[in-house]
Amino acid sequence: MPYTSGFVIHPFAPLPEFQLPLAVHIVHLSFPNTSSAIAKTMDSVHEIAITGQNLPAKYIYTDSINPSQDPSIPLPLLEIPVIDFNRLATPSIGTGEELERLRSALSSYGCVMVTNHRVASSLMDRVRLVFKQFLALPMEERLKWQKEVDGFDGYGSDMIVTKDVAVVHDFTARLRLITWPEDRRQMKYWPEKPHDFREVLDEYSSKLRVLHDATLKAMARSLNLEDDSTFLKVIREGGTISSRFNFYPPCPTPDRVLGLKPHSDGTVITFVLQDREVEGLQVLKDEQWFRVPIVADGLVLNVGDQLEIMSNGEFKSPIHRVVLNPKKERISMATLSFPQEGKQIEPFEGLVSRERPRLYRQVKYSVVAQVGYYHSGMRLADVARI
Ligand code: OGA
Ligand code: NI
Repeated sequence: MPYTSGFVIHPFAPLPEFQLPLAVHIVHLSFPNTSSAIAKTMDSVHEIAITGQNLPAKYIYTDSINPSQDPSIPLPLLEIPVIDFNRLATPSIGTGEELERLRSALSSYGCVMVTNHRVASSLMDRVRLVFKQFLALPMEERLKWQKEVDGFDGYGSDMIVTKDVAVVHDFTARLRLITWPEDRRQMKYWPEKPHDFREVLDEYSSKLRVLHDATLKAMARSLNLEDDSTFLKVIREGGTISSRFNFYPPCPTPDRVLGLKPHSDGTVITFVLQDREVEGLQVLKDEQWFRVPIVADGLVLNVGDQLEIMSNGEFKSPIHRVVLNPKKERISMATLSFPQEGKQIEPFEGLVSRERPRLYRQVKYSVVAQVGYYHSGMRLADVARI
């Protein structure tokens, strides 16, 4: 049996000229043959980290991750624009100015640090805590919530492909769950331990949904669109919001192994709740990698490819990655919004004009194609570019 502990990549638009200009080389690897669920999980990132096994070759990049960079010099810190959500949402205190700051930041950086977002710091800490408690459970318990071979929800490692697709795996374990709409939740993947896991995720995701909706509306207003639900509609019409908890173990060779390889998010937008202490997220700007700072109680907002296309390039979907720490583990939790499978995505006509011609063709949202682009180092927004 081939090693198919996860996504099976189906054919998708193979357009190698859209390869990201990144110093990442993909090595050809043969995958071990294994069949039982336990064996697969024993091969998973979490178990490798716990048992201290030698790192299998499938995680290793042949080139250094930062070839032009002296590893003893840390990368520069990104001067990420900070957006005060309270100012965006309260007309009397300078909304217009904050909207312009938001527009300008999303058109150059594609990401901002959102503060005063009305999600309590204590709730953010509880999210981090329940995930850490989940990770500390015995493997048999964690396995109860394991994702299926070709599924998306549930707990597992980077689960890729088969024989002939050569991909470097991410050194991360994750737990992904659809949280909205509620009738799309698959409770069989929602951990029951720790006992308050479900309650905490329910509370956090409902707060994030409010923030998500208000943010998409503010984004539409910042572009002076008449209907501020223009972008939000894509989510409301059959879209979903998911939570993805990420666990990045410590790694003694962080110059050869990545937590998440360079990618842009295939989402409409993403909010990242970072680890309180351990950095790892990096953004590519002007062909240089920058560290994203940890801002107490801040949430990182990323534009996703779907929104870059819908906004006709007014907003940019940034390329980012996660590096590992040699000594410390790191966790994060991303809130991701997606269109409905099969939805046609294209620039909103109000953003196309003679001065600003249409930059992207219409593309059909497909989760499988998205996974394919991810593993090939391609951005949907580049593929769709006219
Ligand atoms: C992601 C992502 C960043 C992080 O989940 O797509 O980029 O800090 N996460 O874990
Ligand atoms: Ni991402």
